[in-house]
Amino acid sequence: MKICMIGTGYVGLVSGVCFSDLGNDVVCVDKDLNKIENLKKGISPIYEPGLSELIKKNYKIGRLKFSTNLKDSVIKSDIIFICVGTPTKKKTNAADLSQVFDVSKKISRFIKSKFKIIITKSTVPVTTGDIIEKIISKGKSKKLFSVVSNPEFLREGEAIRDFIYPDRIVIGTDSSRSNKILKNLYSPLISKGAKYINTTRRASELIKYASNSFLATKITFINEIANLCEKININVEDISIGMGLDKRIGSRFLRAGPAYGGSCFPKDTKAIVNTAEKFKINLSLVKSVIKSNEKRSLLLLNKLIEILKGKIKNKNICFLGVTFKANTDDMRDSSALAMIPSLAKKGAKINYYDPTGEKNVFKKIKNVTFINNIKSAIHNSDLVIIHTEWNDFKSINFKSLIKKKNFIVYDMRNIYSPLKMKKAKIKYFGIGR
Ligand code: UDX
Repeated sequence: MKICMIGTGYVGLVSGVCFSDLGNDVVCVDKDLNKIENLKKGISPIYEPGLSELIKKNYKIGRLKFSTNLKDSVIKSDIIFICVGTPTKKKTNAADLSQVFDVSKKISRFIKSKFKIIITKSTVPVTTGDIIEKIISKGKSKKLFSVVSNPEFLREGEAIRDFIYPDRIVIGTDSSRSNKILKNLYSPLISKGAKYINTTRRASELIKYASNSFLATKITFINEIANLCEKININVEDISIGMGLDKRIGSRFLRAGPAYGGSCFPKDTKAIVNTAEKFKINLSLVKSVIKSNEKRSLLLLNKLIEILKGKIKNKNICFLGVTFKANTDDMRDSSALAMIPSLAKKGAKINYYDPTGEKNVFKKIKNVTFINNIKSAIHNSDLVIIHTEWNDFKSINFKSLIKKKNFIVYDMRNIYSPLKMKKAKIKYFGIGR
C-alpha cells in the first residue's frame, strides 16, 4: 500500500513509521522543513522510546520517506491519513479544525483519476468527516474518493507498542471498498489479536471522544475517592485493587495521582462538551470531571502547604519529573505547570530533575533550577515531590542522598511502600493513603 501521512505530530509520525515497518511505502509530510530535514537524519521531534530506531531502519530501507511536498505525496498515494493538530480554541473550548480543513482543500486539488481513501486519524468532533467529504467533493465524482474515520488510541511513551498491539481498530465508513482495503492494511495487527470494528463514520468519530472522556472520568473518580481515603486512613491502592478485580470495572486507569494532563484528555473532554452543546445536549458528568481535574492541582498544592506546615519561604523543594507523565517529554497540561510557579512565587527554592531534560517554560522563573541528576537535585531538599513515575525514581535511597535531617517525601504516584518508608523513618506522604 502507498500511504501518505499528513502531519508529523505524535499520531502521524508514530503511525507512519509503524505502517512502514509493517511493509508499506509511507511518506510523512509536514510543512515544517526543519522537522522534515531532521527526520531524514533520523532525528525524532518527539521523545518516544524506540521511535528513532524505527525511523532510521525504515528510512534506510527506503520504505519510509519524509517530504514537505504535499502535492506529489498525495498524488502518489492510495491512502491519505490526515494527522494534523486539533487544538482547543481559546475562547470556546471547541476543537480548532482549521488545519484539518486546510489540508482537505489541498488534498481535493490532487484527486484526479485514481481512487483514494482519505482518513482522519486526528481526533475530530463528530460530523467533521461529513464536512471534509463536502470540501473534497467539490466538482469531483464521489467514485474517486472515500472519507473514512480511523481514530488512533496510542498513548505517549507506549506509542509503538500501542500501535502494534491495539485493543481495537475502529474504521468508520459505509464504503465496502474502503473497508476491504483498510482491513487488509491492518491485517498484520488483526492477526496479532486486535479487534477490527467497522461502523459508521460519525460513530467512529464519537468513539474516540467517548473513550477519552470515559478514561478521564475513571481517573477523576479514583482521584476523588483518594481524597476521601486520606481523611479516613484508607489506602486508595486497596480500593483500586478491590474495584478493578470486578471485570465490569477493570483495573486500568484507576491509579490516583496528580490532575490528569497531556495532549488529549484535557482537550478532548472540553471538545466533546462543546460538540454536545451544539446539539443542545448537556454532558454534565464530563463537565464536572473537567472542573474536578482543574481544581486538583490546587488541592494538591494546598496539601503540600499543609505538609510543610504553611512554611514555604526558603524551603528547598525538589520535583522529580515535571512532564504530564513518565516516558514522555511532553509538558502539555502537566500539573507541574500549576504547582512549580506557585511554590516559587511563595518563596520556595525549587530544584527539578526530569530524564527528558530542562524545560523552557521554567527557564525564566526565579528560584527554579534544573539539575541534571537525581543525586544533586535532591541532596539539599526539605521536600522531595515524586511527580511522575519514571523507573529512575523507583529505588532511590533517600536517606543516603539527602543531607537534611527531617526531609519529607511526597509521592504523588504512590511508587513507594508507606510501611517501608515508616520503617526507614522517612516522613512520607502519598496520594489517598
Ligand atoms: C491518552 C489516551 O490514553 C490515548 O488512548 C489517546 O490516544 C491519547 O490520550 P496519553 O495522553 O498519552 O494517552 O496518556 P495516558 O497514559 O492516557 O495518561 C493521561 C493522563 O492520565 C496522564 O496525566 C496520566 O498521568 C493520567 N493517569 C493515567 C492517571 O492519573 N491515572 C491512571 O490510572 C492513568
